[in-house]
Amino acid sequence: MPVTVVIGTQWGDEAKGKISDVLAEDADIVARFNGGDNAGHTVVNQFGTFKQRLIPSGIFNDKTISVVGPGVVLNLNTITTEIADLNSRGIDINDRLWVSPRCQIVMPYHKLIEELTEKAKGDLKTGTTKRGMSPVYADKVSYNGIRLFDLMDKEKAYKKIKTQLAIKNPTLEAFGFEPLRAEDFVEEALEKFELIRHVVREAFELMHNALIDQSNVLVEGAQSTLLDNTWGTYPYCTSSTTVVGGITAGLGIAPKWVNRVIGVAKAYMGRVGNGPFPTELLDETGDHIREEGQEYGTVTRRPRRCGWFDAELVRFSSMLNGVSEIALTKLDVLDKLPEIKYSTHYEIGEDNQTLRYWEGDADKLFECDPVYETSEGWLEATSEIREFENLPENAKEYIEKLEMLMGCPISMVSVGPSREETIII
Ligand code: GDP
Ligand code: IMO
Ligand code: MG
Repeated sequence: MPVTVVIGTQWGDEAKGKISDVLAEDADIVARFNGGDNAGHTVVNQFGTFKQRLIPSGIFNDKTISVVGPGVVLNLNTITTEIADLNSRGIDINDRLWVSPRCQIVMPYHKLIEELTEKAKGDLKTGTTKRGMSPVYADKVSYNGIRLFDLMDKEKAYKKIKTQLAIKNPTLEAFGFEPLRAEDFVEEALEKFELIRHVVREAFELMHNALIDQSNVLVEGAQSTLLDNTWGTYPYCTSSTTVVGGITAGLGIAPKWVNRVIGVAKAYMGRVGNGPFPTELLDETGDHIREEGQEYGTVTRRPRRCGWFDAELVRFSSMLNGVSEIALTKLDVLDKLPEIKYSTHYEIGEDNQTLRYWEGDADKLFECDPVYETSEGWLEATSEIREFENLPENAKEYIEKLEMLMGCPISMVSVGPSREETIII
């Protein structure tokens, strides 16, 4: 069975881009099924360092086809810039990129509506990436979206967008924004569309033929399980379905084809934006992890919040996604810590009752107490190590403890950003 899915198990930025790049070496197709340019997937390989926002990380293998599935929402500026950047660095994508015409398009009004919504919420805001994600997905589910299909016909595009402005402008004006005029942005959208028209094609049949031929299809998840719109820490989450089941709607692949689900987990926790974070470190250790791990948002450059590994959350993500193996990343970031903690489970209330993640909502997570165990640090550099056996004893012990707590084998350990800095177990 040919489909491998790479899924984040925390709050994003687990190094899904790096792991996808490693796995893409053997893939015939690499595909995205969710999110938009709120994603920032860093790839470091022989071609250089890349921050992939929309184009799957498999694009670096010249035999691999890259698919942007219909569940992805498209910012036309981002995709055209990304293509130009890849082309200018010697990576030709034209024959290998397929972008679904079903993709919804992010329009200028989506960003404005997001801005006013976040402002109106004050302290309760999500702390988004400001890419217009929630309004564009809201328009999709309420049948108000503009898809790539619509840009194929100029008259149709104007008609649909003008209708949307008639709906949106009164809200924008009520919040003190200038109303938008279709003439000010539709021509530019149509020009950008012309730049990608040749890659806008439905990959459904291509993928199904590949599946029947037992070709290798790699699916690169964006965002992460704990940011999922249903199962994540709502409303501190994203607007797409980020979990493995999202691939049927978001890509057109039935569940029966999936035989490998790789959950990507950092050796500690991190999150950007607001929301509960039970094991967050608001002290020097948190600062140390942020600096060692260069934990600054790929998209927004915001400092990422850092904390100890949280087994309750990653165990939940593994259960929900049917994770068959874990890629544990950024182990090297912990190299200099004399002592490493990890949380095994949560307790809540005066009688210290156990709280399982799925029992409560985000507010419960603000109240619970993580229960910690402590591991001795290894105080040795791990970035040069390529065999599990050669890792320091304390590092091996830490990995084995996490493996036991997650109830899932760890099949890869990442010890640095580049493709080579990887231990396959
Ligand atoms: P993604 O969104 O899940 O693809 O992750 P990001 O690319 O947003 O963030 C991961 C960051 O960690 C990037 O800057 C990577 O280059 C870097 N990185 C990936 N793996 C490792 C690793 O094993 N060790 C270290 N130190 N950095 C890593
Ligand atoms: P990758 O794919 C980390 C977070 C935002 C915010 C919340 C909602 O690189 O792992 P949105 O703009 O989606 O409406 O923001 O989700 N978020 C991410 N955090 N990595 C990401 O993507 C993220 N995409 C969204 O910070 O908390
Ligand atoms: Mg990222």
